[in-house]
Amino acid sequence: MIKKGIILAGGTGSRMSPLTKAVNKQLLPLYDKPLIYYPLSVLLLAGIRNILIIVNKGQLSQFKKILPIKNNLGIKIQYKEQNKPGGLPEAFIIGEDFIGSDNIALILGDNFFYGQNLSTRLKNSVKLKSGAQVFLHPVNNPSLYGVATINKKNKIIKIVEKPKKTNSNLAITGMYFFDNRVISLSKTLKPSKRKELEIVDLLNKYRKKGNLKAEFIGRGGAWLDTGNIEDFYNTSNFVSAIENRQGLKIACLEEIAFNNHWINKKNIKEAINFYGNCNYSKYLKKFLV
Ligand code: TTP
Repeated sequence: MIKKGIILAGGTGSRMSPLTKAVNKQLLPLYDKPLIYYPLSVLLLAGIRNILIIVNKGQLSQFKKILPIKNNLGIKIQYKEQNKPGGLPEAFIIGEDFIGSDNIALILGDNFFYGQNLSTRLKNSVKLKSGAQVFLHPVNNPSLYGVATINKKNKIIKIVEKPKKTNSNLAITGMYFFDNRVISLSKTLKPSKRKELEIVDLLNKYRKKGNLKAEFIGRGGAWLDTGNIEDFYNTSNFVSAIENRQGLKIACLEEIAFNNHWINKKNIKEAINFYGNCNYSKYLKKFLV
């Protein structure tokens, strides 16, 4: 059972400049919450309570300010800094002590997941004992992503980063599950032309040994991009539309923790104090009755 998760929340955010000149992308508002709430909520939905957040050097205090104080979510959050964006597999090298001898989940700080059965699918994924597992989702423009080709048995037979031409439309999303070998395998990777360790190279190491599983978010689910400004605002509008239509919040961290029985009404009251007089607090008051 995977009980630990890493959120990779550094990066340069160059496509979002000048918004990201002074503020990290993961701290920008995706509708009514900072972007990082969304990947964090996914880990909580997976039942993961022990979390390492990797941030850019010098940005730690900003993250600490926006995330709920102390133990109000009934989880443990630790932080580590990344000197410069050296690629996604660096998460496992920076996080080596945190991971210890356990298996690990990784989610990218700018990835948005939503959908029916997501929690069930996540809870199945954390059962991973050995090998690695990725979530795939069809996209219109696969050449912007890492793309997987699968055979009839849903086995991944090929992975290519940003292919110019491909017969597959299955993007590899930013949520991964690995066994403990991921630490030593990440250390064997060599930087690519863009001077980063590449997640595709890491996944290929598992694939070549027949140890890479594919899962799907499913037709009713959404995996949305927040990498460029257009996609960022489209995703923000998506959250706004769903929340206002249904009266339910996406990625309300306290709601998930409360439903998981990790926190009680006293913690919700503390959270309301922390957030102050705002719509998010108003929503939390629902759980006090
Ligand atoms: P990217 O989308 O690759 O990069 P970015 O967010 O810096 O944006 P841009 O391409 O516009 O410059 O990163 C995906 C996520 O992973 C994002 O949340 C930042 C994070 N990340 C790190 O924390 N460290 C890294 O070394 C890299 C490459 C990404």
